[in-house]
Amino acid sequence: MKNKVTVVGAGFVGATCAQRIVEKDIANVVLLDVVEGLPQGKALDIMESAPVEGFTSKIVGTNEYKDTENSDIIVIVAGMARKPGMSRDDLQIINAKIVNEVVMNVKDLSPNAIIIIVTNPLDVMTYLTFKISGFPGQRVIGMAGILDSARYRYFISQALGVTSNQVQAMVFGGHGDSMVPIPHYATVNGIPITQLLSKKKIEEINQRTKNGGAEIVGLLKMGSAYYAPSAAAVEMVKSILYNENKILPCSVYLNGQYGLEDVYCGVPVKLSRKGVEKIIELELTKEEKLALKKSSETVKENIIKVMALY
Ligand code: 2OP
Repeated sequence: MKNKVTVVGAGFVGATCAQRIVEKDIANVVLLDVVEGLPQGKALDIMESAPVEGFTSKIVGTNEYKDTENSDIIVIVAGMARKPGMSRDDLQIINAKIVNEVVMNVKDLSPNAIIIIVTNPLDVMTYLTFKISGFPGQRVIGMAGILDSARYRYFISQALGVTSNQVQAMVFGGHGDSMVPIPHYATVNGIPITQLLSKKKIEEINQRTKNGGAEIVGLLKMGSAYYAPSAAAVEMVKSILYNENKILPCSVYLNGQYGLEDVYCGVPVKLSRKGVEKIIELELTKEEKLALKKSSETVKENIIKVMALY
């Protein structure tokens, strides 16, 4: 039997996630939104592409939470996107309300599901989901590191004039202005970028990566990125459902790892059918450790503000 993935939120990120999942024939999808007709219309439109695209997975659009019952994975993307000039943190009160409602509705219908959060501010919404769902941290994971790292990899590839799939690189920390690109683990087919690019160029790429989401918001003027965010979320879905044990940067519950306590923050993890199979602890430079600590402190300050309301 095919796996079942629920995507909550049928805006651009949610619908593109649903499209990518069925086009790759990874799972059947339930696309849920509170707006009547929106998920049904998008689901029907995607299904009408099946004869041309050749996929056999199904997608159902709905406004009813009962249709999400027994999902293997629930991807939560519901929430407001930022407008030019806004930070992700500006969304936290309104999006916390939305995420809280979604989690309260899905948790008992799919008690064994793995929840992937995409709603911003990402790390705070993932912590909120962890607390209110009562699910173990292993099964509540935030999508951000893969997106930030994909941007980092792309910018490195552009600077070097190589194809981006040759570039491996990771961004740690919270999904915000304080994220932490890690150049000394970035390589092109095993060659450290520190041997291929000047310090100045690497610093420019780090800055562009940190500003990657805002750069797209500034260009689009309405709404935020969705192609790269949906690709990153689907990478997680696939790694989990296919038990791929891929090592990917994700926002996970840290309780001592990297010296951080009771916080969600982006670090590399092994993703398997159980969710977070293992948190990978790497050696970081003094500056990187400090930057990661600072980033987690920013996340924590926001967690405290949001959790005071729940
Ligand atoms: C981004 O970085 C939407 O936070 C998302 O594009």
